[in-house]
Amino acid sequence: MGQRVALITGSGKRIGAATAAKLLADGWFVFLHVRNSVEDAQKFLESYQRENGTPASAEIVRADLDSDEELEQLIQHVLAHDSVKINGGLHGLIHNASIYNSMNFEEVSLEELRLNNRIHVEVPFLLTQRLVEPLKTANGCVVGLIDTSLGRAWKGLSHYTSSKAALRQLMMNLAGDLAPDVRVNCVAPGAIMAAEWEAEHFASVLEKIPLGRAGEVEDVANAISFLLDSPYLSGQVIEVDGGWSVAP
Ligand SMILES: NC(=O)c1ccc[n+]([C@@H]2O[C@H](COP(=O)([O-])OP(=O)(O)OC[C@H]3O[C@@H](n4cnc5c(N)ncnc54)[C@H](OP(=O)(O)O)[C@@H]3O)[C@@H](O)[C@H]2O)c1
Repeated sequence: MGQRVALITGSGKRIGAATAAKLLADGWFVFLHVRNSVEDAQKFLESYQRENGTPASAEIVRADLDSDEELEQLIQHVLAHDSVKINGGLHGLIHNASIYNSMNFEEVSLEELRLNNRIHVEVPFLLTQRLVEPLKTANGCVVGLIDTSLGRAWKGLSHYTSSKAALRQLMMNLAGDLAPDVRVNCVAPGAIMAAEWEAEHFASVLEKIPLGRAGEVEDVANAISFLLDSPYLSGQVIEVDGGWSVAP
């Protein structure tokens, strides 16, 4: 078998970059998709080369996923890429790109609501649909990054949690639609890395977590890698949350 190939959206830093690091260590070719974090992605690849004495088998691809034109360019780039043609398709598609802003329900604009749905639902739908042929050829696996909010009321986040719930359902539905050729799963991180605005809120969440601490980005990367490497797992959600989802 040739080299396995993955596209990870929003992988210039944080959980996306940790996932890229795990897949590179496991011998994958990785498309590191970024929007603004071009420099972070370049530094990540430079440090990989320093540490491993060999260039990473990866390519940085830039696209604002809110732009139809740039999304199309990303799709065309992947479809035409030698790594996909030579290695028998696309083995992994990780829907990681995300936005996360808290605001009063009354103040959520239609624009904000649509942007959440665009990034968390529309883009994963379109990317999976347009890349389905190379995914089928490779018997690939799609992984959606959701969260642990399903069925809960997270203050000031209804625009975000509702779009992540839709992503979860999209992934579950596609696990049926795309079987038996393509597997589709989700990883639901708990409190892993705080957003800049939520330091106080993040600290209060940690108090409720049975394991008593935040998770590491590598914990999420390992769960994604496990799903990619598990040929009989489809339609699953792995909660990487230190037991938060079962806390009293
Ligand atoms: N961090 C946590 O503790 C946590 C908890 C629960 C769930 N999750 C989920 O796990 C995943 C990774 O979390 P994270 O905190 O590492 O993510 P993040 O930093 O919030 O976002 C990842 C990337 O998404 C990209 N992105 C946002 N809008 C975009 C757009 N219009 N076009 C293209 N890219 C765009 C950004 O890329 P650029 O920087 O290149 O602009 C950003 O670096 C997310 O899906 C998140 O919802 C994380």
